[in-house]
Amino acid sequence: MDAAPPSRPGPNEPNIPAWASRSHPDLKSGGEPPAPAAKAADPKPAPPATAAPKPAAAKAAPELERREFLNWLALGWIAFSAASAAGLTALGRFFFPNVLFEPPSVFKVGYPEDFADGNVDERFKEKFRIWVVREAGQIYALFAQCTHLGCTPNWLAAENKFKCPCHGSGFYRSGINFEGPAPRPLERVKIQRAEDGQILIDKGVVYAQEKGQWSDPSSFLVV
Ligand code: FES
Repeated sequence: MDAAPPSRPGPNEPNIPAWASRSHPDLKSGGEPPAPAAKAADPKPAPPATAAPKPAAAKAAPELERREFLNWLALGWIAFSAASAAGLTALGRFFFPNVLFEPPSVFKVGYPEDFADGNVDERFKEKFRIWVVREAGQIYALFAQCTHLGCTPNWLAAENKFKCPCHGSGFYRSGINFEGPAPRPLERVKIQRAEDGQILIDKGVVYAQEKGQWSDPSSFLVV
């Protein structure tokens, strides 16, 4: 089918070129051409927008919050560490309670020849609380505990006696009391030879002179 030919303008219709009517449909319909848009005001250069103030305050606030957060974090970490340390300490005490380790009551002190005749050996006083005495062909061990109230006497070699610092009791080298409030001699402890020839002491067995126990062969060694 053939396309309809373009209609020709009537006698009273202005001759408007087709391109103009396409651009301005109002022309095609015969209306007045639209008034030209008001000329845009001269594009005066816009005043430079006042630069927004640097957001120093806005920046400072998050920074402050961040620091506060870090401070609290550090505080929390310290508290956590302290609590953990306390917990571990308590746990350690649970598994390893305070125990007083006493020295053994049976122990060796060496060979008879290690002890000079006429001498009071004080090497074992601090650890085992005994003196080893060698005299007149015997070796015996005295328990270093005053028979008055239990203080530890001192050996005074120059005065050839044991002297208690608490109330002044005095004991001869043999252990016999002779001054002060001590009511009886020092006690001796069991002494014998071990299989290897050393002197073996047993503090679990004591001998009291007033009970006639110093004659017990286990209360001295013949050398
Ligand atoms: S405890 Fe030794 S004299 Fe009193």
